[in-house]
Amino acid sequence: MTTTDGHINGHSVRKLNFGAGPAQLPYELLENVKDEFLNYHGAGANIMELSHRSSTFAKVIQDAEQDIREILSIPESYAVLFLQGGATAQFSAIPLHFLNLKPSQTADYLVTGYWSEKAAKEAEKFGKVNWVVPKGSKYQGVPAEASWKLSADPSYFYYCANETIHGIEVDDIPAIIPKDVPIVCDMSSNFLTRPFDITKFSVVFASAQKNFGISGVVLVIIRKDLVEKNTNKSIPLILEYKIQIDNGSMYNTPPTFAIYIASKMFAWIKQQGGLKAINEGADKKSSLVYQTIEQSNGFYVNFVEKKYRSRTNIPFRIVTNGVPDEKLETLFIKEAIQSNMIELKGHRAVGGIRVSLYNGISVKEATQLVNFMRTFQTNNS
Ligand SMILES: Cc1ncc(COP(=O)(O)O)c(C=O)c1O
Repeated sequence: MTTTDGHINGHSVRKLNFGAGPAQLPYELLENVKDEFLNYHGAGANIMELSHRSSTFAKVIQDAEQDIREILSIPESYAVLFLQGGATAQFSAIPLHFLNLKPSQTADYLVTGYWSEKAAKEAEKFGKVNWVVPKGSKYQGVPAEASWKLSADPSYFYYCANETIHGIEVDDIPAIIPKDVPIVCDMSSNFLTRPFDITKFSVVFASAQKNFGISGVVLVIIRKDLVEKNTNKSIPLILEYKIQIDNGSMYNTPPTFAIYIASKMFAWIKQQGGLKAINEGADKKSSLVYQTIEQSNGFYVNFVEKKYRSRTNIPFRIVTNGVPDEKLETLFIKEAIQSNMIELKGHRAVGGIRVSLYNGISVKEATQLVNFMRTFQTNNS
């Protein structure tokens, strides 16, 4: 008999996946996808085999848009786009559209880690980028706002709400940014883990493969009036927001299966009780891990300033005699695998261990991990 968490006859056939993305999906969602795999709602085909112009797929994408609009209370003045090229394509699309929006022809980039750095460097190909905080930070927090160098009237202010590799989360728009500056935010790794007010943003984008699905689709929520202000006529077709808005994200063949999975995740989030419930779960899961780190007497160390600790990506080192102990970290990863927990290796840029706690990870599963961490410490210190 298969149970709701993937046990068959008492044995787990699923591993616990703490990867940074693509990431674990809720088990019941996978079961549902399996049920629909050969014959989607009587169509006699998988949804991925049907035309994106079919009425069957039209309903999938319409339901997805309706659900995400409901979850985030997105007004009609914003377009919701399901695009390809990942969040990385947005690193180019945003400056191409908006870098010259204001006479300053400059965009302010708050660089707090690997991903915002990548975005800033990409934008520099197209025009003037002002790095709000000096280059060369160790990415263990966000420098004090008083030290920031903002432009007088930037075309937009860009930041990454959650640095997936460095484990740094900025949970709201920095208060120092004037209200009339368009805000652009990469929410790839914390999107749909907390409620937020979309009307404070001009553009929010997020890859699906962390908190709401699989790779192949990036969600872009964008102010329609801002798109109309674009004057750049040299934007590649595939990156042009207006074309995708006018064509309901179907200017070319969209990633149908990825949109179908996103649609299921949106429905799943609603079933959980919406973002309020998801937010509480994210608090619980991350607190479990941070408490375990804090109570380890320096055995586990997370280097991020407390205020900016990410709830979705927690990098840490195992330390002996004051230095990271790579041997012990390798053993940790090996024994975790033996205990059915995978994808815990830290990103090569920071090393050590990284725990990702996206929406597909339950509080129970996070508890399993911290139990393992405690036992590992007892056995190795
Ligand atoms: C915060 C952040 N932004 C952007 C990206 C790039 O996303 P993609 O690989 O979908 O282009 C990632 C990928 O992990 C990410 O974590």
